[in-house]
Amino acid sequence: MKHTLFAATAALALLAGCTQPMSGGTSAAEKRMSQLPPAPAPADNAPTPEKLALGKQLFFDTRLSGSGTMACENCHYRDKGWAVPEALSKRDDGKMNTRHTPTLYNTAYIEPLYWDGRSATMEIQTMAAWRNQMGADPDKIAARLNAVPAYKAAFNKVYGMDANGANIVKSLTTYVRSLVSGDSPWDRHEKGVSGAVSADAIAGFDLFLNKGRCASCHTPPVYTSGGFYNVGLEAGKATPDAGRGAITKKPEDTGAFKAPTLRSVALSAPYFHDGSAKTLEEAVRYMASGGKADPNKSPLMVDTKLTDREIAQVVEFLKALTSDEPLVRPTLP
Ligand code: HEC
Ligand code: HEC
Repeated sequence: MKHTLFAATAALALLAGCTQPMSGGTSAAEKRMSQLPPAPAPADNAPTPEKLALGKQLFFDTRLSGSGTMACENCHYRDKGWAVPEALSKRDDGKMNTRHTPTLYNTAYIEPLYWDGRSATMEIQTMAAWRNQMGADPDKIAARLNAVPAYKAAFNKVYGMDANGANIVKSLTTYVRSLVSGDSPWDRHEKGVSGAVSADAIAGFDLFLNKGRCASCHTPPVYTSGGFYNVGLEAGKATPDAGRGAITKKPEDTGAFKAPTLRSVALSAPYFHDGSAKTLEEAVRYMASGGKADPNKSPLMVDTKLTDREIAQVVEFLKALTSDEPLVRPTLP
């Protein structure tokens, strides 16, 4: 299902990339294609309001970590676009991560997960994050939660049994899949609300589709194709991160990383898998320049010769993709 989605949107983006530069607006077809469809979920983990509420509590609860002091939130903050403001984050065991924390927005639409795609599903990925990032022993944490009467009751209501590793993960993924940034000024503009975005943002979208050639990898409506590309960021490093290549063992995948969603990207500085771009403008400038030379660099990465003004317009467009749904923090039992 997700593959169909990506195939369809990729085809549309290619079509869009072939059209003449548009003046002052988007066509009816693009208006339809750019809206996010409902977030998909696996058949064996369909969302319910109770499961979602439980998963939300767990996401913000430090009792889920081995030390009892770290929650998922400690590396995925809402006001930082569900990421962290540092280039690299520290795990529950005190070790530093080697890659920047990505946003959780719109991960429901993206599989496989992680920068290198090593987790086929979000359930596999979340079990790994919980164990490794948070130092969790799932059985011990489940026992800790079952000792809290309101949690025990909630798990029994949702799953007909006490908390265990698998249903804790199912609850967490249900919450993370709900983190969709789909109601931005740009979405309102595409729905026909006049004055929702600036003229520069509209010009920036045209550049994004056409001269900037961004949409082949950052395909609407999720603003990612879901693919992995080497954009040259590891070139020249003493111990380069092989990225996707370490997973597929294909030499041509060396240094390739997942193209991130660009919805709400303005919130989640710094950027890239190594956190090397401090500002959105710096990230856009790098992407538009075609990136550093690398033997495995994607042929889609070319110097698009965007001017300073055009870079600023693309940045304005990306800022208009920021959704502003409020975070209502859960009350923990
Ligand atoms: C100590 C920091 C830290 C904590 C705590 C943490 N994460 Fe992450 N998270 C990361 C990093 C770093 C990555 C990227 C790792 C990689 O791609 O190699 C990541 C990636 C992810 C992804 C994949 C996103 C994508 O686009 O592929 C999801 C989903 C996620 N985390 C959810 C969670 C959940 C749920 C929890 C709580 C159980 C959690 N994280 C706790 C740092 C953290
Ligand atoms: C060849 C595919 C490709 C093209 C073309 C492309 N990107 Fe990217 N983009 C990526 C990948 C892959 C990453 C992540 C790179 C990494 O961290 O190794 C990325 C990262 C980004 C980021 C940082 C996102 C984050 O959360 O860290 C921004 C912003 C961005 N691209 C904007 C653009 C813009 C604007 C254009 C057009 C001028 C563009 N990209 C063209 C593949 C592409």
